This record gives sequence, C-alpha cells and structure tokens, in this order.
Amino acid sequence: MKQIDVKTPSSPYAIFLERGLFGSIPQRLAEAFPKSRFAIIPDESVGALYGKALKSGFEDNNIQCEVFAVPPGEASKSIAMFGQLLSRLAQHRYNRADVIVALGGGVVGDLAGFVAASYLRGVRSVQIPTTLLAQIDSSVGGKTAVNLPEGKNLAGAFYQPSAVYIDPSLLATLPESDFTDGMAELIKYALIRDATMFALLENGPAITAQSPRLERLIERCVSIKRDVVTADEKDTGVRMVLNFGHTIGHAIERVCAHKGIPMTHGRAVAMGIAAIAAAGECKGLTRPGTSDRIEQVLKKNSLPYSIEGFDREELLDAILVDKKNLADKLNLVMIREPGQSFLHTIERALLPEYL
Ligand SMILES: NC(=O)c1ccc[n+]([C@@H]2O[C@H](COP(=O)([O-])OP(=O)(O)OC[C@H]3O[C@@H](n4cnc5c(N)ncnc54)[C@H](O)[C@@H]3O)[C@@H](O)[C@H]2O)c1
Repeated sequence: MKQIDVKTPSSPYAIFLERGLFGSIPQRLAEAFPKSRFAIIPDESVGALYGKALKSGFEDNNIQCEVFAVPPGEASKSIAMFGQLLSRLAQHRYNRADVIVALGGGVVGDLAGFVAASYLRGVRSVQIPTTLLAQIDSSVGGKTAVNLPEGKNLAGAFYQPSAVYIDPSLLATLPESDFTDGMAELIKYALIRDATMFALLENGPAITAQSPRLERLIERCVSIKRDVVTADEKDTGVRMVLNFGHTIGHAIERVCAHKGIPMTHGRAVAMGIAAIAAAGECKGLTRPGTSDRIEQVLKKNSLPYSIEGFDREELLDAILVDKKNLADKLNLVMIREPGQSFLHTIERALLPEYL
C-alpha cells in the first residue's frame, strides 16, 4: 500500500492508496481510533453501493456506527443539510472522541468535512473518496464548504482530515461521464507539474477506471496536490496553480448556466485548459505546439477542447464578474510547456488579448 504523508502546518495526516483497500478500512479505523464511534456520511447512491459493507465491517469489529445519508447532488451542499447533519449528530449524542467518515464524491467530502470542522468546534474526520475528482483533488487539502444561495463554497473552513483512504477499485461503479470529468483535473495536474505524466497520457491509451496505470496516476496527482497545499495551506499564493484552466472554465460554466445549457465542471475546465494554452502560444509565453498536444490528450479522453461556438464577449463578461473582487490586475495560471506552470499577472484591460 502507498502512503503519502501530508505535513500541513495545522495538522499532519496520511493518505493511504491501494486497489482493494476498502474492505480493510473498518479494521484500520478501529485501530487508529480506539473507543470511537463513527458517523458515516455518504450520499444515497454511494450509500446504497458501499455504505452497508462499511457499516457491517464496523459491526464485525464491534464498533458502533450510524449512517446519515444525504441526497446525491450539489443541492446537498447546503446550509440546511449542514444544519440537519449537526442536529442528527447531537441527537445521537456524538462526542469529541467520535469520528466523521465522508464516503462519496466531492459533494459529500466538502459537506461532511465542514460538519466535522463545526460540530463541537471540531471533531476528527476521515475521507473515503469515491469519485475520480475526489480521489485526486477534493479529499486532499482540507478545504471544506457548503454553498449559499449567493454562490458556491461561500461558507466553509480549512480543516484537515485525520486520514484519507483511496481505493481506485471503487471507481468501477462511477458513471463514465463522472469519470471523464475527473480526467480533466487529472490532465491538469500533469500540465502544471509533471511532464513525464503528460507524456504518459500522450503516448498511452485513454485512461479508464480499469486502467492498470490509474493507481499510479492517482498517486502522482495526490502527491502534487500534497506538495502545493503544504506550501500554501490557506490558498494565498502558489495554490493558485491548481486553478489552471479554471478562469475560462468557470466563465464557460457561468455562461452555460445562464443559458440553461448543460455543462459539467470537468468539461468546462478541459476547454479552459485548451483555451489558455492557446492564448499562451499566441502571446509567446507557451512553447508552440503545446495546445495541439493538449487537444490530442483531451480528445483521446473524450473531453471537449474547443471554445468555438461560445460568444467571446459573454465569456469575457463572465470572467470579469467572477473576478470582481480583485483590483485592476488579474492573475492567470499559464504553462511554459507541459509540466511547467507559472502565474502571469495582467492588467484587466488586457484580458481580451487572452481569449
Ligand atoms: N474541497 C476541494 O478542494 C474541492 C476541489 C474540487 C471540487 N470540490 C467540490 O467537489 C464537488 C464535486 O464533486 P464530484 O465531482 O465528486 O461530485 P459528486 O460528489 O456529486 O459525485 C458525482 C456523482 O457520482 C456519484 N458517485 C460517487 N461515487 C460513486 C461511485 N463510486 N459509484 C457510483 N456513483 C458514484 C454520486 O452519487 C454523484 O451522483 C463540488 O461541490 C466541488 O465544489 C471540492
């Protein structure tokens, strides 16, 4: 089993990664947290697939646990659901010695993480991520949050889990479309920090949940995220590189939401990555040919790569709305070539030149 240690200034913890790890998690948790009770928080779909096995695993080890499932989907990342979960923990008399187990994708990870950060001013939590996005991204780094009607992730806390258990075999049941969305973030990691990983994606076949190299790729992404968040736990500097492709990606999501066009985060990020690489080439900041290489990798993994068809003015407006809190400068994450990212600060007025 791979162990990736995260040494954030606030609290160090370990990420455990292995195909087939899931079955042994109850016993591992029983050993790591003796005398604790466990509150398992999955969404209902993940609960139906994996919640029962986890619960009976705990019971086989004579450990008390309850399952508090929430409906699947982003709507569960709400203040109302957050409040309900806190109340249920209180009704079941959970105390400071007990542990919250987030079992699911990024929605459950963010929600249950924020519940753990808040209940009794903070109880321990572990993450068992079950989507590709959660395994490579959201379960690592300690950002927890719920959405407000005014916007996404507006209430939350930086709160590190006590451990993360990643079992890539759980991705076998993940709908293909969710897997593909996660691939956009996986490709992003290669582009910002790892030329060898990008070459592997470029030269090998498309990655699927069954790919033998998936475990190694997840390990690389987690290690990159670990390195970045250790350097910048509270997201004030270098952590920004994780947003490569996200400025244009968020604008695409915003424009599509406004027009009622279905768009997922991963697909929007994929287009954002391709667009900013192309802009970098036009400005002489990115090695010529890079955006073609990126397009090939995105295409191979069934991700979109062209923003043709989007109205440029609408995208520009959406970027400026998204960045309205900042001064007259904008920070863009760019790459020199695959594996080498940097922050590029521009005058707001020059943004049109980058689209
Ligand atoms: N905290 C962070 O650093 C961070 C980073 C990136 C994204 N996020 C957040 O993550 C959320 C998105 O996460 P997501 O993409 O994982 O979505 P999600 O949690 O909604 O999961 C997607 C869907 O997959 C289903 N599912 C999950 N695992 C499954 C499995 N193994 N088999 C079958 N079905 C499964 C879920 O029921 C859900 O319907 C957003 O709210 C975003 O803000 C947080």
